[in-house]
Amino acid sequence: MSASDDFLLELTTTLGDKAVVIDPADIDAWTTDWRGRWTGKAIALLQPATTAEVQAIVRAAEAHGVPLVPQGGNTSMVGGATPDDSGSAAILSLRRMKAVRRIDPATRQVVAEAGLVLEAMQALLADEGLRLPLDLGARGSATIGGLASTNAGGTEVLRHGTMGQMVVGLEAVLSGGEILDTLSPLKKDNRGPRVDRLLIGGEGQFGIITALRLQLAPVPRDRATAWVGVKTPQAALDLLRFAEARTDAIEGFELIPDDVLDAAVAVMGVQRPLEAPWHVLIEAKGDGAPGTLTATLEGLLADALERGLATDAVIARAEAQADAFWHIRHSLSEAEKKHYGMAGSHDISVPVDAMPAFLDAVKGWVEGQWPGVSVSGYGHLGDGNIHLHVRAMERAWQGWRDNEGAAIEQVVHDMVVDHGGSISAEHGIGQMKRGEFARLGDPARLQTLKALKAAMDPEGIFNPGKLIP
Ligand code: FAD
Ligand code: LAC
Ligand code: ZN
Repeated sequence: MSASDDFLLELTTTLGDKAVVIDPADIDAWTTDWRGRWTGKAIALLQPATTAEVQAIVRAAEAHGVPLVPQGGNTSMVGGATPDDSGSAAILSLRRMKAVRRIDPATRQVVAEAGLVLEAMQALLADEGLRLPLDLGARGSATIGGLASTNAGGTEVLRHGTMGQMVVGLEAVLSGGEILDTLSPLKKDNRGPRVDRLLIGGEGQFGIITALRLQLAPVPRDRATAWVGVKTPQAALDLLRFAEARTDAIEGFELIPDDVLDAAVAVMGVQRPLEAPWHVLIEAKGDGAPGTLTATLEGLLADALERGLATDAVIARAEAQADAFWHIRHSLSEAEKKHYGMAGSHDISVPVDAMPAFLDAVKGWVEGQWPGVSVSGYGHLGDGNIHLHVRAMERAWQGWRDNEGAAIEQVVHDMVVDHGGSISAEHGIGQMKRGEFARLGDPARLQTLKALKAAMDPEGIFNPGKLIP
Protein backbone atom coordinates (compact mmCIF):
# COMPACT_ATOMS: atom_id res chain seq x y z
CA MET A 1 0.00 0.00 0.00
CA SER A 2 1.19 3.55 -0.74
CA ALA A 3 1.69 6.18 1.93
CA SER A 4 -1.53 7.90 0.85
CA ASP A 5 -3.48 4.59 1.08
CA ASP A 6 -2.13 4.11 4.62
CA PHE A 7 -3.09 7.70 5.44
CA LEU A 8 -6.66 7.26 4.18
CA LEU A 9 -7.07 3.87 5.87
CA GLU A 10 -5.87 5.27 9.19
CA LEU A 11 -8.20 8.26 9.03
CA THR A 12 -11.21 6.32 7.77
CA THR A 13 -10.75 3.88 10.65
CA THR A 14 -10.42 6.58 13.30
CA LEU A 15 -12.71 9.33 11.95
CA GLY A 16 -15.24 7.48 9.76
CA ASP A 17 -16.56 7.99 6.21
CA LYS A 18 -18.22 11.32 6.89
CA ALA A 19 -14.87 12.92 7.64
CA VAL A 20 -12.97 11.16 4.85
CA VAL A 21 -14.58 11.52 1.42
CA ILE A 22 -12.82 9.68 -1.39
CA ASP A 23 -15.47 9.56 -4.12
CA PRO A 24 -14.19 11.87 -6.93
CA ALA A 25 -17.77 12.91 -7.67
CA ASP A 26 -17.91 14.53 -4.22
CA ILE A 27 -14.41 15.98 -4.40
CA ASP A 28 -14.41 17.50 -7.88
CA ALA A 29 -16.47 20.58 -7.01
CA TRP A 30 -13.68 21.65 -4.65
CA THR A 31 -10.66 21.17 -6.89
CA THR A 32 -11.18 24.25 -9.09
CA ASP A 33 -10.84 27.80 -7.82
CA TRP A 34 -13.51 30.53 -8.06
CA ARG A 35 -11.88 32.18 -11.07
CA GLY A 36 -11.81 28.83 -12.89
CA ARG A 37 -8.09 29.30 -13.44
CA TRP A 38 -6.57 26.47 -11.39
CA THR A 39 -7.84 22.90 -11.36
CA GLY A 40 -6.02 20.29 -9.30
CA LYS A 41 -6.49 16.79 -7.96
CA ALA A 42 -6.91 15.51 -4.42
CA ILE A 43 -6.71 12.06 -2.88
CA ALA A 44 -9.53 12.94 -0.49
CA LEU A 45 -11.75 15.65 0.88
CA LEU A 46 -11.25 15.63 4.64
CA GLN A 47 -14.12 17.12 6.61
CA PRO A 48 -13.38 17.08 10.34
CA ALA A 49 -16.13 18.05 12.75
CA THR A 50 -13.96 18.85 15.77
CA THR A 51 -10.58 20.29 16.67
CA ALA A 52 -9.54 16.82 17.90
CA GLU A 53 -10.26 15.46 14.41
CA VAL A 54 -8.12 18.19 12.87
CA GLN A 55 -5.33 17.16 15.26
CA ALA A 56 -5.64 13.54 14.13
CA ILE A 57 -5.50 14.62 10.47
CA VAL A 58 -2.40 16.78 10.96
CA ARG A 59 -0.59 13.99 12.84
CA ALA A 60 -1.47 11.42 10.17
CA ALA A 61 -0.49 13.80 7.36
CA GLU A 62 2.91 14.37 8.93
CA ALA A 63 3.42 10.67 9.60
CA HIS A 64 2.61 9.69 6.00
CA GLY A 65 3.94 12.80 4.23
CA VAL A 66 0.58 13.83 2.76
CA PRO A 67 0.18 17.57 1.99
CA LEU A 68 -2.96 19.24 3.32
CA VAL A 69 -4.72 22.06 1.46
CA PRO A 70 -6.84 23.94 4.01
CA GLN A 71 -10.07 25.13 2.48
CA GLY A 72 -12.96 27.28 3.65
CA GLY A 73 -15.33 28.54 0.96
CA ASN A 74 -12.74 28.17 -1.84
CA THR A 75 -13.39 31.78 -2.88
CA SER A 76 -9.70 32.66 -2.95
CA MET A 77 -8.92 34.97 -5.84
CA VAL A 78 -5.32 33.71 -6.06
CA GLY A 79 -5.79 29.92 -6.19
CA GLY A 80 -4.89 29.68 -2.51
CA ALA A 81 -7.25 26.88 -1.52
CA THR A 82 -7.11 24.53 -4.50
CA PRO A 83 -4.67 21.61 -4.71
CA ASP A 84 -2.06 21.29 -7.43
CA ASP A 85 -2.48 18.66 -10.14
CA SER A 86 0.01 16.13 -8.75
CA GLY A 87 -2.86 14.35 -6.96
CA SER A 88 -0.80 13.91 -3.80
CA ALA A 89 -2.61 16.30 -1.47
CA ALA A 90 -5.80 16.04 0.54
CA ILE A 91 -8.18 18.98 0.83
CA LEU A 92 -8.84 19.80 4.48
CA SER A 93 -12.24 21.46 4.47
CA LEU A 94 -13.30 23.29 7.63
CA ARG A 95 -16.89 23.68 6.48
CA ARG A 96 -18.35 21.19 8.98
CA MET A 97 -16.80 23.13 11.83
CA LYS A 98 -19.29 25.99 11.98
CA ALA A 99 -20.52 26.16 15.56
CA VAL A 100 -20.86 29.43 17.40
CA ARG A 101 -19.28 28.56 20.73
CA ARG A 102 -20.35 31.74 22.50
CA ILE A 103 -21.56 35.27 21.96
CA ASP A 104 -20.66 37.77 24.66
CA PRO A 105 -22.90 40.86 24.26
CA ALA A 106 -21.15 42.72 27.10
CA THR A 107 -17.75 42.73 25.39
CA ARG A 108 -19.30 42.42 21.92
CA GLN A 109 -17.26 39.35 21.07
CA VAL A 110 -18.05 36.03 19.43
CA VAL A 111 -16.16 32.75 19.54
CA ALA A 112 -16.96 30.68 16.49
CA GLU A 113 -15.47 27.83 14.51
CA ALA A 114 -13.42 28.46 11.40
CA GLY A 115 -15.86 26.99 8.89
CA LEU A 116 -18.70 29.36 9.74
CA VAL A 117 -19.74 31.27 6.61
CA LEU A 118 -19.66 35.06 6.98
CA GLU A 119 -23.26 35.61 5.88
CA ALA A 120 -24.55 32.93 8.27
CA MET A 121 -22.62 34.49 11.14
CA GLN A 122 -23.92 37.97 10.35
CA ALA A 123 -27.51 36.64 10.44
CA LEU A 124 -26.96 35.10 13.89
CA LEU A 125 -25.25 38.22 15.21
CA ALA A 126 -27.98 40.52 13.91
CA ASP A 127 -30.39 38.84 16.35
CA GLU A 128 -28.12 40.13 19.13
CA GLY A 129 -27.83 43.63 17.61
CA LEU A 130 -24.22 42.92 16.61
CA ARG A 131 -22.24 42.59 13.39
CA LEU A 132 -18.74 41.85 12.17
CA PRO A 133 -17.84 45.08 10.33
CA LEU A 134 -16.54 43.33 7.20
CA ASP A 135 -18.37 42.72 3.96
CA LEU A 136 -17.46 41.35 0.54
CA GLY A 137 -19.09 39.82 -2.50
CA ALA A 138 -18.14 36.30 -1.41
CA ARG A 139 -20.03 36.63 1.89
CA GLY A 140 -22.33 33.67 1.07
CA SER A 141 -19.39 31.23 0.81
CA ALA A 142 -16.31 32.73 2.50
CA THR A 143 -15.68 31.36 5.98
CA ILE A 144 -14.30 33.23 8.98
CA GLY A 145 -11.28 30.88 8.95
CA GLY A 146 -10.60 31.75 5.31
CA LEU A 147 -11.13 35.45 5.99
CA ALA A 148 -8.61 35.34 8.82
CA SER A 149 -6.14 33.21 6.84
CA THR A 150 -6.17 35.82 4.06
CA ASN A 151 -6.56 38.82 6.37
CA ALA A 152 -9.41 39.76 4.04
CA GLY A 153 -10.41 43.33 3.35
CA GLY A 154 -13.68 44.21 1.67
CA THR A 155 -15.75 47.36 1.65
CA GLU A 156 -15.60 48.53 5.29
CA VAL A 157 -11.83 48.59 5.82
CA LEU A 158 -11.67 52.37 5.62
CA ARG A 159 -13.17 52.63 9.10
CA HIS A 160 -12.80 49.19 10.69
CA GLY A 161 -9.62 47.74 9.23
CA THR A 162 -9.06 44.28 7.79
CA MET A 163 -10.14 40.94 9.26
CA GLY A 164 -6.95 40.66 11.30
CA GLN A 165 -7.90 43.72 13.29
CA MET A 166 -11.07 41.98 14.45
CA VAL A 167 -9.30 38.83 15.58
CA VAL A 168 -8.92 38.96 19.37
CA GLY A 169 -7.53 35.44 19.53
CA LEU A 170 -7.71 32.07 17.86
CA GLU A 171 -7.40 28.33 18.18
CA ALA A 172 -5.18 26.54 15.67
CA VAL A 173 -3.69 23.12 15.15
CA LEU A 174 0.04 23.36 14.48
CA SER A 175 2.68 20.82 13.51
CA GLY A 176 2.65 17.72 15.70
CA GLY A 177 -1.06 18.29 16.35
CA GLU A 178 -0.23 20.87 19.01
CA ILE A 179 -3.04 23.30 19.78
CA LEU A 180 -2.26 27.00 19.91
CA ASP A 181 -5.05 28.53 22.03
CA THR A 182 -5.35 32.30 22.39
CA LEU A 183 -9.14 32.31 22.60
CA SER A 184 -9.19 33.74 26.11
CA PRO A 185 -10.47 37.34 26.13
CA LEU A 186 -7.22 38.70 27.56
CA LYS A 187 -6.72 42.38 26.98
CA LYS A 188 -3.03 42.20 27.78
CA ASP A 189 -0.55 39.40 27.13
CA ASN A 190 3.09 40.28 26.75
CA ARG A 191 4.69 36.85 26.66
CA GLY A 192 6.79 37.88 23.69
CA PRO A 193 5.51 38.53 20.18
CA ARG A 194 2.07 37.17 19.36
CA VAL A 195 2.62 33.84 17.66
CA ASP A 196 -1.06 33.61 16.69
CA ARG A 197 -0.68 36.61 14.36
CA LEU A 198 1.36 34.43 12.01
CA LEU A 199 -1.83 32.64 11.06
CA ILE A 200 -3.55 35.92 10.12
CA GLY A 201 -2.87 36.24 6.41
CA GLY A 202 -0.78 33.05 6.70
CA GLU A 203 -2.68 31.33 3.85
CA GLY A 204 -2.61 28.00 5.65
CA GLN A 205 1.20 27.86 5.74
CA PHE A 206 1.73 27.60 9.48
CA GLY A 207 -1.22 25.58 10.77
CA ILE A 208 -4.97 25.15 10.64
CA ILE A 209 -7.23 27.73 12.27
CA THR A 210 -10.09 25.90 13.98
CA ALA A 211 -11.80 28.74 15.89
CA LEU A 212 -11.65 32.51 16.32
CA ARG A 213 -12.61 35.09 18.93
CA LEU A 214 -13.75 38.16 17.01
CA GLN A 215 -14.39 41.71 18.10
CA LEU A 216 -17.78 42.90 16.86
CA ALA A 217 -19.52 46.24 16.44
CA PRO A 218 -23.08 47.17 17.30
CA VAL A 219 -25.61 47.27 14.47
CA PRO A 220 -25.65 51.01 13.79
CA ARG A 221 -28.81 53.04 14.46
CA ASP A 222 -28.24 55.26 11.48
CA ARG A 223 -27.00 54.66 7.96
CA ALA A 224 -26.73 56.67 4.76
CA THR A 225 -25.68 55.52 1.31
CA ALA A 226 -24.96 57.64 -1.75
CA TRP A 227 -24.08 56.92 -5.37
CA VAL A 228 -22.06 59.79 -6.78
CA GLY A 229 -20.79 60.63 -10.26
CA VAL A 230 -17.30 62.10 -10.62
CA LYS A 231 -15.12 63.04 -13.59
CA THR A 232 -11.85 61.39 -12.59
CA PRO A 233 -10.21 59.25 -9.87
CA GLN A 234 -8.52 62.45 -8.64
CA ALA A 235 -11.94 64.08 -8.22
CA ALA A 236 -13.06 60.96 -6.31
CA LEU A 237 -10.07 61.25 -4.00
CA ASP A 238 -10.73 64.96 -3.46
CA LEU A 239 -14.32 64.06 -2.62
CA LEU A 240 -13.11 61.49 -0.08
CA ARG A 241 -10.91 64.05 1.67
CA PHE A 242 -13.73 66.61 1.54
CA ALA A 243 -16.16 64.10 3.08
CA GLU A 244 -13.72 62.98 5.77
CA ALA A 245 -13.20 66.59 6.83
CA ARG A 246 -16.96 66.91 7.41
CA THR A 247 -17.77 63.60 9.13
CA ASP A 248 -16.00 60.65 10.71
CA ALA A 249 -18.87 58.31 9.77
CA ILE A 250 -17.57 57.29 6.32
CA GLU A 251 -17.24 53.51 6.38
CA GLY A 252 -16.94 52.67 2.70
CA PHE A 253 -15.71 54.64 -0.31
CA GLU A 254 -15.64 52.60 -3.49
CA LEU A 255 -14.59 53.70 -6.97
CA ILE A 256 -16.17 52.19 -10.10
CA PRO A 257 -15.36 53.15 -13.70
CA ASP A 258 -18.28 53.33 -16.08
CA ASP A 259 -17.07 50.41 -18.22
CA VAL A 260 -17.16 48.08 -15.20
CA LEU A 261 -20.64 49.34 -14.33
CA ASP A 262 -21.57 48.59 -17.97
CA ALA A 263 -20.79 44.93 -17.28
CA ALA A 264 -23.10 44.82 -14.25
CA VAL A 265 -25.90 46.52 -16.18
CA ALA A 266 -25.43 44.13 -19.12
CA VAL A 267 -25.31 40.82 -17.29
CA MET A 268 -26.57 41.25 -13.72
CA GLY A 269 -29.85 42.97 -14.55
CA VAL A 270 -29.09 46.01 -12.39
CA GLN A 271 -30.07 49.63 -13.05
CA ARG A 272 -27.42 52.29 -13.70
CA PRO A 273 -27.94 54.78 -10.83
CA LEU A 274 -26.65 57.77 -12.84
CA GLU A 275 -24.57 58.73 -15.89
CA ALA A 276 -20.91 59.55 -15.24
CA PRO A 277 -17.43 58.47 -16.38
CA TRP A 278 -16.58 57.33 -12.85
CA HIS A 279 -18.82 56.36 -9.95
CA VAL A 280 -18.31 56.47 -6.21
CA LEU A 281 -20.33 54.52 -3.66
CA ILE A 282 -20.27 56.07 -0.20
CA GLU A 283 -21.51 54.39 2.98
CA ALA A 284 -21.82 56.26 6.28
CA LYS A 285 -22.82 54.61 9.54
CA GLY A 286 -23.32 56.02 13.02
CA ASP A 287 -25.21 55.85 16.26
CA GLY A 288 -27.13 59.10 16.00
CA ALA A 289 -30.87 59.37 15.35
CA PRO A 290 -31.96 57.72 12.09
CA GLY A 291 -31.85 60.25 9.27
CA THR A 292 -28.95 62.26 10.73
CA LEU A 293 -26.38 60.84 8.34
CA THR A 294 -28.66 61.24 5.33
CA ALA A 295 -28.85 64.94 6.16
CA THR A 296 -25.05 65.02 6.57
CA LEU A 297 -24.49 63.38 3.18
CA GLU A 298 -27.08 65.67 1.55
CA GLY A 299 -25.30 68.79 2.79
CA LEU A 300 -21.88 67.45 2.00
CA LEU A 301 -22.80 66.34 -1.52
CA ALA A 302 -24.63 69.60 -2.31
CA ASP A 303 -21.42 71.45 -1.47
CA ALA A 304 -19.33 68.94 -3.43
CA LEU A 305 -21.55 69.44 -6.52
CA GLU A 306 -21.21 73.20 -6.18
CA ARG A 307 -17.41 72.94 -5.99
CA GLY A 308 -17.26 70.65 -9.00
CA LEU A 309 -16.01 67.66 -6.97
CA ALA A 310 -19.03 65.64 -8.11
CA THR A 311 -21.17 65.77 -11.23
CA ASP A 312 -24.31 64.09 -9.91
CA ALA A 313 -25.48 62.21 -6.81
CA VAL A 314 -28.29 59.94 -5.64
CA ILE A 315 -28.83 59.42 -1.93
CA ALA A 316 -30.63 56.19 -1.07
CA ARG A 317 -34.11 56.98 0.24
CA ALA A 318 -34.72 53.57 1.80
CA GLU A 319 -32.74 50.55 3.00
CA ALA A 320 -33.81 48.69 -0.14
CA GLN A 321 -32.26 51.32 -2.39
CA ALA A 322 -29.05 51.34 -0.32
CA ASP A 323 -28.91 47.55 -0.52
CA ALA A 324 -29.49 47.74 -4.29
CA PHE A 325 -26.49 50.07 -4.64
CA TRP A 326 -24.33 47.64 -2.66
CA HIS A 327 -25.67 44.71 -4.66
CA ILE A 328 -24.28 46.42 -7.77
CA ARG A 329 -20.91 46.91 -6.08
CA HIS A 330 -20.64 43.35 -4.81
CA SER A 331 -21.63 41.86 -8.17
CA LEU A 332 -18.79 43.54 -10.11
CA SER A 333 -16.37 40.59 -10.02
CA GLU A 334 -19.02 38.22 -11.30
CA ALA A 335 -20.25 40.77 -13.84
CA GLU A 336 -16.78 41.46 -15.25
CA LYS A 337 -16.03 37.75 -15.55
CA LYS A 338 -19.31 37.10 -17.40
CA HIS A 339 -19.27 40.18 -19.60
CA TYR A 340 -15.62 40.73 -20.50
CA GLY A 341 -14.30 37.20 -19.96
CA MET A 342 -11.02 36.57 -18.21
CA ALA A 343 -8.70 39.46 -17.51
CA GLY A 344 -5.23 39.84 -16.13
CA SER A 345 -6.25 40.79 -12.59
CA HIS A 346 -4.05 42.79 -10.29
CA ASP A 347 -5.17 43.32 -6.71
CA ILE A 348 -2.74 46.10 -5.86
CA SER A 349 -2.35 48.91 -3.38
CA VAL A 350 -0.44 52.18 -3.37
CA PRO A 351 -0.56 55.00 -0.82
CA VAL A 352 -4.11 56.39 -1.07
CA ASP A 353 -3.09 59.80 -2.40
CA ALA A 354 -0.89 58.21 -5.07
CA MET A 355 -3.71 56.18 -6.64
CA PRO A 356 -4.94 58.67 -9.31
CA ALA A 357 -1.41 59.22 -10.65
CA PHE A 358 -0.74 55.48 -10.57
CA LEU A 359 -3.94 54.72 -12.51
CA ASP A 360 -3.11 57.32 -15.17
CA ALA A 361 0.45 56.09 -15.49
CA VAL A 362 -0.36 52.40 -15.76
CA LYS A 363 -3.25 52.87 -18.18
CA GLY A 364 -1.22 55.19 -20.39
CA TRP A 365 1.80 52.91 -20.47
CA VAL A 366 0.07 49.55 -20.95
CA GLU A 367 -2.47 50.73 -23.54
CA GLY A 368 0.29 52.62 -25.37
CA GLN A 369 2.65 49.65 -25.51
CA TRP A 370 0.08 46.93 -26.23
CA PRO A 371 -2.53 48.18 -28.73
CA GLY A 372 -5.92 46.51 -28.31
CA VAL A 373 -5.38 45.86 -24.61
CA SER A 374 -7.52 47.89 -22.23
CA VAL A 375 -6.94 48.69 -18.57
CA SER A 376 -9.66 49.38 -16.07
CA GLY A 377 -9.85 49.30 -12.32
CA TYR A 378 -12.42 49.43 -9.56
CA GLY A 379 -12.47 48.94 -5.83
CA HIS A 380 -11.49 50.29 -2.51
CA LEU A 381 -10.17 53.76 -3.30
CA GLY A 382 -10.44 54.77 0.34
CA ASP A 383 -7.89 52.04 1.17
CA GLY A 384 -5.60 52.79 -1.79
CA ASN A 385 -6.57 49.38 -3.19
CA ILE A 386 -7.82 48.95 -6.74
CA HIS A 387 -8.54 45.74 -8.63
CA LEU A 388 -6.77 46.65 -11.84
CA HIS A 389 -7.90 44.53 -14.73
CA VAL A 390 -6.10 44.19 -18.04
CA ARG A 391 -8.44 42.99 -20.78
CA ALA A 392 -7.28 41.45 -24.00
CA MET A 393 -10.51 40.07 -25.29
CA GLU A 394 -9.59 39.18 -28.83
CA ARG A 395 -6.40 37.31 -27.85
CA ALA A 396 -6.25 33.50 -27.49
CA TRP A 397 -6.42 33.48 -23.73
CA GLN A 398 -3.97 30.89 -22.40
CA GLY A 399 -1.23 31.87 -24.82
CA TRP A 400 -1.84 35.53 -24.08
CA ARG A 401 -1.61 35.07 -20.34
CA ASP A 402 1.65 33.14 -20.52
CA ASN A 403 3.34 35.66 -22.80
CA GLU A 404 1.96 39.17 -23.31
CA GLY A 405 -0.13 38.94 -20.13
CA ALA A 406 2.87 37.92 -18.04
CA ALA A 407 4.94 40.76 -19.50
CA ILE A 408 2.18 43.26 -18.71
CA GLU A 409 1.86 41.83 -15.20
CA GLN A 410 5.54 42.55 -14.59
CA VAL A 411 5.18 46.10 -15.87
CA VAL A 412 2.12 46.69 -13.66
CA HIS A 413 3.92 45.31 -10.62
CA ASP A 414 7.06 47.32 -11.33
CA MET A 415 4.93 50.46 -11.49
CA VAL A 416 3.23 49.46 -8.22
CA VAL A 417 6.64 49.16 -6.58
CA ASP A 418 7.72 52.51 -8.07
CA HIS A 419 4.67 54.09 -6.46
CA GLY A 420 5.51 52.59 -3.06
CA GLY A 421 2.79 49.95 -3.26
CA SER A 422 2.12 46.25 -2.74
CA ILE A 423 1.49 43.58 -5.41
CA SER A 424 -1.17 42.06 -3.15
CA ALA A 425 -3.49 44.38 -1.27
CA GLU A 426 -6.11 41.99 0.06
CA HIS A 427 -6.34 38.70 -1.85
CA GLY A 428 -2.95 37.29 -0.83
CA ILE A 429 -0.25 35.56 -2.87
CA GLY A 430 -1.64 32.00 -3.26
CA GLN A 431 -0.44 30.25 -6.42
CA MET A 432 -1.00 33.27 -8.59
CA LYS A 433 1.61 35.70 -7.32
CA ARG A 434 4.29 33.40 -5.97
CA GLY A 435 6.67 34.10 -8.85
CA GLU A 436 6.20 37.83 -8.66
CA PHE A 437 6.56 37.74 -4.87
CA ALA A 438 9.91 35.99 -5.37
CA ARG A 439 10.95 38.59 -7.95
CA LEU A 440 9.86 41.68 -6.04
CA GLY A 441 9.63 40.70 -2.36
CA ASP A 442 12.27 42.33 -0.21
CA PRO A 443 14.92 39.81 0.88
CA ALA A 444 14.35 40.34 4.61
CA ARG A 445 10.65 39.53 4.29
CA LEU A 446 11.23 36.47 2.10
CA GLN A 447 14.05 35.16 4.27
CA THR A 448 11.97 35.53 7.45
CA LEU A 449 8.95 33.83 5.91
CA LYS A 450 11.06 30.90 4.71
CA ALA A 451 12.69 30.48 8.13
CA LEU A 452 9.32 30.56 9.89
CA LYS A 453 7.91 28.05 7.43
CA ALA A 454 10.80 25.65 7.97
CA ALA A 455 10.42 25.91 11.74
CA MET A 456 6.64 25.65 11.92
CA ASP A 457 6.04 23.13 9.16
CA PRO A 458 9.05 20.79 9.33
CA GLU A 459 7.33 18.06 7.28
CA GLY A 460 6.15 20.55 4.63
CA ILE A 461 2.51 19.44 4.77
CA PHE A 462 0.72 22.79 5.18
CA ASN A 463 -0.49 24.06 1.80
CA PRO A 464 2.76 23.65 -0.15
CA GLY A 465 3.11 25.61 -3.39
CA LYS A 466 1.33 28.70 -2.08
CA LEU A 467 2.49 32.05 -0.73
CA ILE A 468 6.13 31.29 0.10
CA PRO A 469 8.43 31.22 -2.95
P1 FAD B 1 -10.52 29.88 0.93
O1 FAD B 1 -10.58 30.49 -0.41
O2 FAD B 1 -11.07 28.52 1.08
O3 FAD B 1 -9.01 29.89 1.46
C1 FAD B 1 -8.24 31.05 1.37
C2 FAD B 1 -6.82 30.75 1.92
O4 FAD B 1 -6.88 30.50 3.32
C3 FAD B 1 -6.18 29.51 1.33
O5 FAD B 1 -4.79 29.69 1.30
C4 FAD B 1 -6.55 28.41 2.31
O6 FAD B 1 -5.64 27.34 2.26
C5 FAD B 1 -6.49 29.16 3.62
N1 FAD B 1 -7.44 28.70 4.64
C6 FAD B 1 -8.79 28.66 4.55
N2 FAD B 1 -9.31 28.27 5.73
C7 FAD B 1 -8.28 28.05 6.57
C8 FAD B 1 -8.17 27.65 7.93
N3 FAD B 1 -9.25 27.39 8.67
N4 FAD B 1 -6.94 27.52 8.49
C9 FAD B 1 -5.82 27.78 7.76
N5 FAD B 1 -5.86 28.17 6.46
C10 FAD B 1 -7.08 28.32 5.88
N6 FAD B 1 -11.28 39.32 -0.62
C11 FAD B 1 -11.06 40.49 0.01
O7 FAD B 1 -10.12 40.61 0.81
N7 FAD B 1 -11.87 41.58 -0.23
C12 FAD B 1 -12.92 41.52 -1.07
O8 FAD B 1 -13.61 42.52 -1.27
C13 FAD B 1 -13.19 40.30 -1.73
N8 FAD B 1 -14.24 40.18 -2.54
C14 FAD B 1 -14.46 38.99 -3.15
C15 FAD B 1 -15.58 38.89 -4.00
C16 FAD B 1 -15.84 37.69 -4.65
C17 FAD B 1 -17.04 37.59 -5.54
C18 FAD B 1 -14.98 36.58 -4.45
C19 FAD B 1 -15.24 35.27 -5.13
C20 FAD B 1 -13.88 36.68 -3.61
C21 FAD B 1 -13.61 37.89 -2.97
N9 FAD B 1 -12.51 38.02 -2.11
C22 FAD B 1 -12.30 39.20 -1.47
C23 FAD B 1 -11.58 36.90 -1.92
C24 FAD B 1 -12.03 35.86 -0.86
O9 FAD B 1 -13.40 35.89 -0.65
C25 FAD B 1 -11.31 36.05 0.45
O10 FAD B 1 -9.94 35.80 0.25
C26 FAD B 1 -11.82 35.16 1.59
O11 FAD B 1 -11.14 35.52 2.75
C27 FAD B 1 -11.61 33.68 1.37
O12 FAD B 1 -12.40 32.94 2.30
P2 FAD B 1 -12.67 31.39 2.04
O13 FAD B 1 -13.34 30.84 3.24
O14 FAD B 1 -13.34 31.18 0.76
O15 FAD B 1 -11.17 30.85 2.00
C1 LAC C 1 -13.89 43.08 -4.80
C2 LAC C 1 -13.06 41.83 -4.81
C3 LAC C 1 -12.58 41.49 -6.16
O1 LAC C 1 -13.50 44.06 -4.18
O2 LAC C 1 -12.01 41.91 -3.89
O3 LAC C 1 -14.97 43.07 -5.43
ZN1 ZN D 1 -11.70 43.90 -3.17
